Amino acid sequence: MAIHTETVYGLAANALSVGAVKKIYEIKGRPHQNPLIVHILESKNAEEISYTNDFFYSLAERFWPGPLSLILPVNDKVPRITTGGMQTVAMRSPQSNIFRDVLRKTKLPLAAPSANPSNRISPTCADHVISGFKNNCPKILDGGNCSIGIESTVLDVSGRKPVILRPGPIGAKEIEDFLGVRIEQPSTPKREVKSPGLSPTHYSPITPTIVYEDSSALIQEIELNPNDIFIFPFENMISCSPIGTNIIPISKTNDSTEVSKKIYSVLHAADRAIPKNIRICLLPEINGLASALNDRIRRTGKLIFKE
Ligand code: TXA
Ligand code: MG
Repeated sequence: MAIHTETVYGLAANALSVGAVKKIYEIKGRPHQNPLIVHILESKNAEEISYTNDFFYSLAERFWPGPLSLILPVNDKVPRITTGGMQTVAMRSPQSNIFRDVLRKTKLPLAAPSANPSNRISPTCADHVISGFKNNCPKILDGGNCSIGIESTVLDVSGRKPVILRPGPIGAKEIEDFLGVRIEQPSTPKREVKSPGLSPTHYSPITPTIVYEDSSALIQEIELNPNDIFIFPFENMISCSPIGTNIIPISKTNDSTEVSKKIYSVLHAADRAIPKNIRICLLPEINGLASALNDRIRRTGKLIFKE
């Protein structure tokens, strides 16, 4: 069943059932080695499925319920299909009351990846779930639009030093300031991806998508490609006039929280319009959320670097 969370809709099933988890992988077309996040109500529920530690408890107390998934060594109760064969498990306590009600009623840990076909754009409303799965669409517990709009931060606390595996709404600096220790961060691609087939596209529209490092590079393409859709995170990045209907600012108030809320909707809508290409640029890295948004934008398509 697809269920509302505050980040993106999740495709949820009993994390302890091999059969139920198999269905999730099947519906999504997800490779079996890509592990799922297990959703739980409280930090104490983590003791039922993993080996907890001090980092885990302090972070859970500070950031749960919320958009932070924490990775710990897993115990034998959890089938390895849930963890993609790994000896660790990612866990998160969602804020969404709709999801929390299901956790309360089922009294089960629920595995829930984003409710979209593998590698496609995550869903932030029920409509996105329906258009993603079409005839194969599971039941949806509709909670309206997701308030955050991008996936949780994934932090590995199973080792001696915490490591961010996926940037997200809770930034590295916020976690470092809270813990008082330095944390490792993921590296971002620095060179142009030579072969589009090798590009790390995990959040991609069906329409070919081209990513620009900054707004000036994107503006230069407008006149040359009148049949494409151009997406700018902030309206103040658009210096051309007049603004055509194929030029879309995500936030009119230049607010990264608003970009986070709307980015997947804007990408879904652009994809539905079937343009020749979607062209989008990064936003200034003003905070942790902006870095997470740039991580997602980079993964929508082929990244073009300046000469
Ligand atoms: O906000 C979210 O996290 C949403 C909602 C539904 O909660 N879920 C979500 O799940 O984004 P999914 O499956 O789309 O992404 C899970 C990410 C993947 O990149 C996966 O590789 C990573 O978490 N992950 C899960 N378990 C892991 C583990 N044991 N070790 C390393 N990475 C793990
Ligand atoms: Mg996903």
